[in-house]
Amino acid sequence: MSNNDFILPKDFPELKNDTFLRAARGEEPEHVPVWCMRQAGRYLPEFREIRAGKDFFDTCRSPENCCELTLQPLRRFPFDASIIFSDILVIPQAMGMEVQMLTGKGPTFTDPLKEPEDLQRLRAKVDVNKELDYVFKAITLTRHKIEGKVPLIGFTGAPWTLMSYMIEGGGSTTHSKAKRWLYRHPDSSHMLLKMLADVIVEYLVGQVAAGAQALQVFESHAGILGPVEFREFSLPYLRDIARRVKDRLKEKGQDVPMIVFAKDAHYALEELSESHYEVVSLDWTIDPRSARERTGEKVSLQGNMDPCALYAPKEQISDIVRKMLEGFGTRGYIANLGHGLYPDMDPENVGAFVDAVHQHSKLLIKQK
Ligand code: CP3
Repeated sequence: MSNNDFILPKDFPELKNDTFLRAARGEEPEHVPVWCMRQAGRYLPEFREIRAGKDFFDTCRSPENCCELTLQPLRRFPFDASIIFSDILVIPQAMGMEVQMLTGKGPTFTDPLKEPEDLQRLRAKVDVNKELDYVFKAITLTRHKIEGKVPLIGFTGAPWTLMSYMIEGGGSTTHSKAKRWLYRHPDSSHMLLKMLADVIVEYLVGQVAAGAQALQVFESHAGILGPVEFREFSLPYLRDIARRVKDRLKEKGQDVPMIVFAKDAHYALEELSESHYEVVSLDWTIDPRSARERTGEKVSLQGNMDPCALYAPKEQISDIVRKMLEGFGTRGYIANLGHGLYPDMDPENVGAFVDAVHQHSKLLIKQK
C-alpha cells in the first residue's frame, strides 16, 4: 500500500486561479480562461514516455499515473483548468464489459451488445464506489498535487455515446449497428440509456465528493443522430443527468458548474442552453456570434477553435484566436478547441494558442 492510499478528499489546497470557474458562472474574469480537450495526450513526449509499454486501461487504473498525466500539460502551459486523465469507457467496464485499447485501432470491446437480450449480461446494479474507486482516488490525489493552481474537471461520456460504443464495439463511421437499435429496438434502447444514466449520476456525484470542481459530459456522438433522434435518445438523458446530479449535490451543500459537449449537435443549441448545464461546449462548425445570439445570456459558452488550426503558423493562430474572442466576447466564455488535440500536434503551437487567448482577451477587456 502506498502513502497515497491515505490521501483523503478534504483539506485541499486553496484555489489560486478561479478564472475558469468564474467564466463558467457567466462572469468576466481578468482574462478569458483556456484549456484544451485531450490536453493530456500523445502530442506530449513526456506523456508518451509514461504510457510507453503500458496498457491504456492499466494506466487509467493507476491513480499515480493519472495524476502525473493530468499535471504534465500544466507544467508546460499556463492552462486555466485541468481535466482528470481517464476515459469515458470506464463506465461500460464497470457495467461488466471488457474493453481494450488496441494500438492503431482504438477502443475495442471483446463482446459488444448485439441484441436486446444482451442487456442481461450487464450488471443490474453497479456499485460505482467499488468499481470506479480508482478514478475517485485519482481525482483526490490530483486535487492535492495540483496545489490549487487551477480547478480540476471531472468527466463522463453521455448515455448515447456510451451506448454506441457498447453496440459498435469500437470506432465506426456509420454507427449503423447502434442506430439500428434506435429504430428497431427503441424500448430496449431506452432501457440501456436509462441504465447508463443511473450509473453516470452516481459517478459524477462521486467525482465531486472526491474533489472534482467542475464536470463535463461528453456526447461525442451526438452528430450521428438527426434532430428528431437527438431529442428522443440523447437530450432527455443529458437533462436528467444534470438535474439529478445538481439535486444530489445540493443535498450535500455542494455545487459545481456542469458543461455539456454535444459534438455536431448545432440543431440543438437552443435546447442545450436550457438543459440545466452552466456551460455549453461547442465544436468548430458553429459560428461564435450566432452561437451567442442563439443562446443569449442563458449559458456560458466554451470552445471552439478547429483543432487543425493548430497546424497553422503561430501568427495565424493568434489571428484566429482574436477573431474567436471577438465573436464570443469575453464574458461567460471559456476558450478551448472544438474537439481534442491530435497526437501529431506541435506542443509549441498549443502554447501559442494559450498565450494568444490570454493576451488578446486582456486587451479586449481593457478596451471596454
Ligand atoms: O486530457 C484529457 O482530455 C483527459 C483525458 C481524456 C481521455 N479520453 C484520455 C485518452 C478524456 C476526456 C477522454 C474522453 C474520451 N474517450 C472521449 C470523449 C471525448 C472525445 O474525444 O470525443 C471518447 C470518445 C473516448 C474514447 C477513446 N479513448 C478514443 C476514441 C480514444 C482514441 C483511440 C486512438 O487510438 O486514437 C481513446 C484513447 C485515449 N483516451 C487517449 C487519451 C489520451 C489516447 C490513447 C493513449 O494514450 O494511448
